[in-house]
Amino acid sequence: MRNMSLTAIAVIVGVSFATAAKAEPQVEVLHWWTSGGEARAIQVLVDDFKAAGGTWTDMPVAGGGGDAARTALKARVLSGNPPTAFQMKGPSIQEWYEEGALSTGIDAIAKEQNWDAVLPAQIADHMKCEGKYCAAPVNVHRIDWFWANPAVLAKAGVAMPTTWDQFNAAADKLQAMGITPLAHGGQSWQDATVFEAVALGIGGNDFYRKAFVDLDMDALGGATMVKVFDQMRKLRGYVDPNFSGRDWNLATAMVMNGEAAFQIMGDWAKGEFTAAGKVPGKDYLCAPTPGSGYLYNVDSFAMFDVKGDDKVTGQNLLAKLILDKKFQKVFNLAKGSIPARIDVDLGEFDYCARRSAYDMNVASSNGGLLPSFAHGMAMRNAQAGAITDVVTRHFNSDLSSADAARLLAEAVQNSL
Ligand code: BGC
Repeated sequence: MRNMSLTAIAVIVGVSFATAAKAEPQVEVLHWWTSGGEARAIQVLVDDFKAAGGTWTDMPVAGGGGDAARTALKARVLSGNPPTAFQMKGPSIQEWYEEGALSTGIDAIAKEQNWDAVLPAQIADHMKCEGKYCAAPVNVHRIDWFWANPAVLAKAGVAMPTTWDQFNAAADKLQAMGITPLAHGGQSWQDATVFEAVALGIGGNDFYRKAFVDLDMDALGGATMVKVFDQMRKLRGYVDPNFSGRDWNLATAMVMNGEAAFQIMGDWAKGEFTAAGKVPGKDYLCAPTPGSGYLYNVDSFAMFDVKGDDKVTGQNLLAKLILDKKFQKVFNLAKGSIPARIDVDLGEFDYCARRSAYDMNVASSNGGLLPSFAHGMAMRNAQAGAITDVVTRHFNSDLSSADAARLLAEAVQNSL
C-alpha cells in the first residue's frame, strides 16, 4: 500500500464504488409457459438468472399459443408499463419495434458472444430490429408432427402414416374400433396448427410458401386450398365430441393415456411426454406429418424499452444466459424443441429432437424450411388472424371447402 501511487489508490476506490453502485439485474418476464413441460423449461432460465444474482419476477398468462398473453402485453404497453421481456416471435418483433416499444440494447451482448456466428441466418434475421438484435432466441420448435400412442396403433394394426390418405384409412379403422383417432383441442390456434401441417402435406413446399409467406391470392383461394379444407373436414370427423375448447396439453394427455391414437401438434407436446417420464419409441411415437417440408417456430424473448439500470442490466444478463450453450441444451431437453444455436451437441437429445435437427438441415438446403403461420412466424398478425378465423369457422360449421378457400383469400385481401 505504502508504495502505491495516489492515482492507483483512486482507481481502486473508484472501481469499488462503481461496483457497489452497479444495479442489481431485474427482469419481469411475461410469457405463457404454464403447462407441465413448459413450466419445467422456463424454470431452467429462472434458476440460471437467480444463480447469476438476478431478481426474476414471473408474469405467466396461461393459454396455449399465447393469445391471452399477447392481449395482456398490449394492455401493459398501452398503460405505459411494459414488462422487461416478452416471449415473442416472428414479424411481431419488428411490428413492436416499429411502434417504438422495443430496445436494441442487447446488441452489444450479441456482438460480444458473436451470435451471428452461432445462429442460423434465418433465425438471426427474425431477432433483429433494423440490423440490431432486439430479441434472444431460445429454441426451434417444429410444428408438423404426429404424436401417437404405439399400443393403440398396434391394437388397431395401423402404422404411422406417411400420406394423408394413409392417415384417413388408419383413422377409419381406429374409429370403427371405438377409438378416437385424433386428440384435438378446439381452440382457434390449435385448428390453425393442424391446418398448416395439412396444407404443407397436401400442397407441398412451394404451395405453402406461396399461400402463407407470399400471400398469393391464387394459392390462398385456389383448387389446392379446396383440397386442404377437404382434409380438414375429414379430420373434424375424427375428433371426439368434447374437443371444443380443450387445452392442447389435455389432448396430449389423451394420446399418453391411450384415449386417442394421434395428436397433430408442435414439439412442445414432447415436453409433456418428457415431464411425465415417457420415452419416445416406447411410450409414444413421433413422426413428421406427410410432406417434405419443415415448419419452424422460434421462441424468443424480445426486450422492451424500459427505464432503470437494474432492468437494462437484467435484459443484458437474460440475453447472455439465453445464448449460453449449456442453457440451450438443458432448456430444450425440457421444452421438446432443439437449440437455436447450431453448435450444441445433441448427444443427450432423443430421437425426435435429432430427427428434427436432421430434417431442418435437409429442408434448409432444398427450400423446405418454412415459417409457421399459426405460430406467428410467417406474416403479420392481421393476416394470420384473418386466416385463422376462416379455418376455425370452417372446422366448426358445415361451410364447404370451396367457400372456405374463397373466404380465405377474401379475408387476407381485406386485412392487407
Ligand atoms: C410456443 C410454444 C408453446 C406453445 C403452446 C407456441 O406458440 O411457441 O413455446 O409451448 O405455443 O403454448
